[in-house]
Amino acid sequence: MAGREAFRSFLTTLRCAETGESHDPSVLQSISRGAGATLLPEYDLEAVRAAVTPAQIRARPADLWRFRELLPLNDPLGAPDLGAGATPLLRLPRLGKRLGMANLWLKDEGANPTGTFKARGAAVGVARAHELGVREIAIPTAGNAGSAWAAYCAAWGIGLHVVMPVDTPDPIKAECAAYGADVTQVRGVISDAGRIVAERSAAAGWFDASTMKEPYRVEGKKTMGLEIAEAFDWDPPDVVLYPTGGGVGLIGVWKAMRELAELGWLRGAPPRLIAVQAQGCSPIVEAWTSGAADAARPDDPYTVANGLLVPLPFAHRLILRILRETGGTAAAVDDAALLDGMRELSSLEGVLAAPEGASLIAALALLLDRGDVARGERVVLLNTGNALKYTHLVDQPAAPPVDPLPA
Ligand SMILES: Cc1ncc(COP(=O)(O)O)c(C=O)c1O
Repeated sequence: MAGREAFRSFLTTLRCAETGESHDPSVLQSISRGAGATLLPEYDLEAVRAAVTPAQIRARPADLWRFRELLPLNDPLGAPDLGAGATPLLRLPRLGKRLGMANLWLKDEGANPTGTFKARGAAVGVARAHELGVREIAIPTAGNAGSAWAAYCAAWGIGLHVVMPVDTPDPIKAECAAYGADVTQVRGVISDAGRIVAERSAAAGWFDASTMKEPYRVEGKKTMGLEIAEAFDWDPPDVVLYPTGGGVGLIGVWKAMRELAELGWLRGAPPRLIAVQAQGCSPIVEAWTSGAADAARPDDPYTVANGLLVPLPFAHRLILRILRETGGTAAAVDDAALLDGMRELSSLEGVLAAPEGASLIAALALLLDRGDVARGERVVLLNTGNALKYTHLVDQPAAPPVDPLPA
């Protein structure tokens, strides 16, 4: 792009989430040496503070790259832009009234390319992999990360190998194929897909972009937290609810708030973060409830919300730490309640949420009952996707078709 402003990332290091050990961000990295844990990018925040102000960021075009000083890319404006980010923050007046809440919002990530928040992670993850010389990527997925990475890999001309459960909804499989990804379906869940990816990547030299084993996807997800803080004029909401599979969005929002607090840009306390899971697959909720430092894989995990079918998130310790650190909590809802929430949100507010996002509706009622959330608080539901890939979960019209009237 001619005349593009010169830019260099403020990225300084990749820090092990377990030990704090620093790792070189200028070369391709996966998990940390020694502990084998997630690596989290860090930035020279003092230099960021000197380089840009919140007002300047607000004046930029409404896309992911407006937060470029807090992203790891050296050439963010040169990245293929499919339009991720800058999603609407919707008020939910009718649902709020039903729940007795005046300050209820929904961040609608369904507005992203490929219909979910996974586009944010892919936009940054694929661009950074490209900067570091990667030309072939493999990813295990519950579905939506696969299609998002497939779209961005298509735009970059990078080869992508997706391994996903055979039970992934057909529209997601079709998306991946349409974007030119090599798709393998496994009779199993995402952890089974992960083992196949690890084995094939090691053999073929592909970059393994498994959840939280790749350091940059979370930076894309972080922009959700940055956008939420900005939308509240840097006085963050009291509570953010997040449908938790591998937990990347939760970690991203936490990281956003931490960096903004360190920059001195926040006018209020960071939100309490609440992890919501499906009862049939709720390792984080189980660990949280029992006070365990580690989560454990449930027997026979199952939920209709494919994105929540993550039997043991790789970053489970970090997720639990974040719940503790932010004063948050965790809650599980069963699939029937989740589907009720989906109907309620669509019929009351005109938002047809993916089942993962819809789980937050039932969870919110539960949290209000438990007293974990107060009715007067400012609450944001992070709806991670739209339901158009999940029409098998949506009621069809009851009335049979009629014949056309004579012309
Ligand atoms: C729509 C949707 N919401 C939430 C999630 C969970 O995301 P994460 O694994 O980052 O916690 C997924 C994951 O596939 C998803 O597709």
